[in-house]
Amino acid sequence: MHKILILNGPNLNLLGSRQPDVYGHETLAMLEQRCIDHGTALGLSVVCEQSNHEGVMLDLLHGARSLYAGVILNAGAYTHTSIALMDAIFSIELPVVEVHLSNIHAREEFRHRSYVSRAALGQICGFGSQGYLMAIDALDTHLNKDTAG
Ligand code: DQA
Repeated sequence: MHKILILNGPNLNLLGSRQPDVYGHETLAMLEQRCIDHGTALGLSVVCEQSNHEGVMLDLLHGARSLYAGVILNAGAYTHTSIALMDAIFSIELPVVEVHLSNIHAREEFRHRSYVSRAALGQICGFGSQGYLMAIDALDTHLNKDTAG
């Protein structure tokens, strides 16, 4: 059974109450439970983590290398600033799917650049929490393709 990590970054603990017009009304706990259920239905074990701290996120990514088959990452605002997160993704050599609730390309220009994208398998954005389920499907397909050789 593949085990995957869903890592949410800064301010995503505030989902549900944070700018609901942009990020929706669903709380992080609700979103995480939907991801776990979706993963279970696919035969995946899903573990969810969230941190507001770049260094903690780096440590979680480093640790993921030996624990998980892949990662789904919403790095929040660190997406647009963190070369360190990009380097960590390159270093761990795991498939990482980048997710954003909002369509970052339709928002302020500073959100258009993603350092995460340079190292990620791909990016899903603009579909709200559904994007996480799409990312699980994408990672599952990718991992099964790898298994099939
Ligand atoms: C976000 C988009 C980022 O630009 C923003 O800083 C976030 C959330 C999203 O999920 O849409 O915190 O990653």
